[in-house]
Amino acid sequence: MPIDAVWDRLTALHQASALNIPALFAADPDRAEGFTIRADGMVFDYSKTAIDRETRDALLALTADLNARRDAMLSGEKINETEGRAVLHAALRHPDTPLWPGGEAVRAGVAATLARMASFATHIRDGEIRGQGGAFTDVVNIGIGGSDLGPAMAARALTPYQDGPRLHFVSNVDGADLADTLRGLDPARTLVIVASKTFTTIETMTNARSAQDWLAAHVDDPAQQFAAVSSATDKTAEWSIDPDRVFGFEDWVGGRYSVWGPIGLSLMLGIGPQRFREFLRGGAAMDDHFRSAPHARNMPVMLALVGLWHHQICGYPTRAVLPYAQRLGRLPAYLQQLEMESNGKRVAMDGSDLTHGSGPVVWGEPGTNGQHAFYQLIHQGTQIVPCEFIAAACGHEPALDHHHKLLLANCLAQSEALMRGRDLDEARQLMAAQGLTGAELDRQARHRVFPGNRPSTTLLVRQVTPYTLGQIIALYEHRVFVEGVVLGLNSFDQWGVELGKELAKSVAPLLDGKTVPDQDASTLSLAEALREMRGG
Ligand code: F6P
Repeated sequence: MPIDAVWDRLTALHQASALNIPALFAADPDRAEGFTIRADGMVFDYSKTAIDRETRDALLALTADLNARRDAMLSGEKINETEGRAVLHAALRHPDTPLWPGGEAVRAGVAATLARMASFATHIRDGEIRGQGGAFTDVVNIGIGGSDLGPAMAARALTPYQDGPRLHFVSNVDGADLADTLRGLDPARTLVIVASKTFTTIETMTNARSAQDWLAAHVDDPAQQFAAVSSATDKTAEWSIDPDRVFGFEDWVGGRYSVWGPIGLSLMLGIGPQRFREFLRGGAAMDDHFRSAPHARNMPVMLALVGLWHHQICGYPTRAVLPYAQRLGRLPAYLQQLEMESNGKRVAMDGSDLTHGSGPVVWGEPGTNGQHAFYQLIHQGTQIVPCEFIAAACGHEPALDHHHKLLLANCLAQSEALMRGRDLDEARQLMAAQGLTGAELDRQARHRVFPGNRPSTTLLVRQVTPYTLGQIIALYEHRVFVEGVVLGLNSFDQWGVELGKELAKSVAPLLDGKTVPDQDASTLSLAEALREMRGG
């Protein structure tokens, strides 16, 4: 069936059906199992969505071109057409076997860089490579976007595995970020990693220069306290950073996909090279699943199709990622970049307008905190927010396992409540049992109604470990890829971040009272107000 006809069929299915999730369970005793995918210790349940078998078949028809695009990506073709680049971040997860027959040169390069990183990390961790005041006690990663979010998110997720120097992350050009981070650190025992793929990003280079000043004020040779991660090794040389401490990567690794390679150096320093390799192994296992599982049993494919159903067909504008794991607190922010920078596009690969909406707004917070903040809207608001719950069966605090059970119970209860809801009769009965009667009961009852039939998915792992974190991140990467292929856009460029960067440069002189041509009246008056507040 031509792809347009598939979209039309899905729209028709959505318009014609009044699918009710609890009714789908009543009609199909095997629904829970039939709409759950189990792979390599992970469980992905999408049964609490208004997708039935017919809709699923129609969604699967969207993936006709997927295998060809997937194979093109995983064999090094330049599928990032607007930048003329291959997309091979997955190769970083396969240092031992080439990602594709003929990919030996790429594998060898990946393995060599990984070995250099491991040797550097080992020597820092065992104190053989030292700062000017002794063994390094702290590492400050200076980067932004993909050069920050990946390692920062993973470092927090893997706190129980950290046995190296303390890790800190500075990203915002707001001096508060750098100042608050450096306060209390010993410059002579702090390693500063400047992480920037391009080594030109203004936020990162400004922070790096100020960190250099901080070091220069306290140690004789600041260069000895620096390392760099970049694919612009010519630019790192201008900083006089010892080439032995510079870790380069190829242009086929996009910023938001770069945690698996040298951008993950800070993480490796914290958890050690062996656990970093477990992280890679988890990602590699997800690659293997993505490559081999039939689409209907393929986790990234089904996660993507559920997402496409909710946003592009049903029109739900956002999706919430709700990890019931405190240490996955930065996962929503990480996924915001991964999903929105990748699929937040309005033009298809061939330059024409997209025929369907781009990716949705992604947001979220760890449960149970979110329950006491925004879940009110999720349960009773007028817009529907598909929820993606993520939970780990076991925590890392055996003495606090009763906390963990409570956490898990909340996670299960929320998806159940969203699906089941509470109708007016139930609400009235409940209130009557509480002693309310007559006009007061009538007035109050509707406030207690939950519409229900609200969709969610649940992803389970046994525990958040380096391996399972690798699985989760690769799962979401491939989900983004599948959605991008179906929508016909390029998930691997990010032209949309350019304009603001350019204008920031041209606007800056206004704050010094200089005249800048072609400025709009609002910007001029805001700049003037700021100048006045700053004392002219
Ligand atoms: O925000 C745009 C972006 O280019 C991201 O894609 C990237 O992760 C981030 O800036 C940082 O870029 P760099 O690593 O080159 O400093």
